[in-house]
Amino acid sequence: MKLAVCPGSFDPVTNGHLDIIRRAAKLADRVLVVVMTNAIKNPLFSMEERMEMLRRVTADLPNVEVDAFDGLLADYTRQVGADAIVKGLRATSDFEYEFQMALTNRQLGATAETVFLTTSAEMMFLSSSLVKQVAAYNGDISEFVPAEVLDLVIQKMKG
Ligand code: PNS
Repeated sequence: MKLAVCPGSFDPVTNGHLDIIRRAAKLADRVLVVVMTNAIKNPLFSMEERMEMLRRVTADLPNVEVDAFDGLLADYTRQVGADAIVKGLRATSDFEYEFQMALTNRQLGATAETVFLTTSAEMMFLSSSLVKQVAAYNGDISEFVPAEVLDLVIQKMKG
């Protein structure tokens, strides 16, 4: 495929996200990682901070770019001419929500196909909210987030 979009809140980016982005970069000529607003989440990091973290962790991937969009994913994919929306599926618990989003995006006129990559087994349990919970109580998150953003996340949690 030519152009894949990896959308998400990335609040913050985790090793699970990076795993999916890296694998998408092997499948597509070009990948746009797009930081978006999830209406039901209240982000800890600003849009710019989330983009900066993503830029750092994807710096070694020449076909990956970071973008942000405050609007509908369906509109974004049409605007950039994406072939696919690539998302990670962790477990059956993700399925219903992701299936719902994929169908809604199609209903909203997204021309891109939604493609699900199965998360690597060791990332099954990982999520940004889990990272924030562990970091909030000074737990070790070094196995959960890329090294390039570890200090940033720890500092942010300290307020
Ligand atoms: O990392 P997340 O929070 O699971 O990502 C969800 C996200 C940001 C991809 C989703 O909320 C989204 O697409 N937001 C943009 C607004 C939109 O298009 N909403 C309808 C999607 S069904």
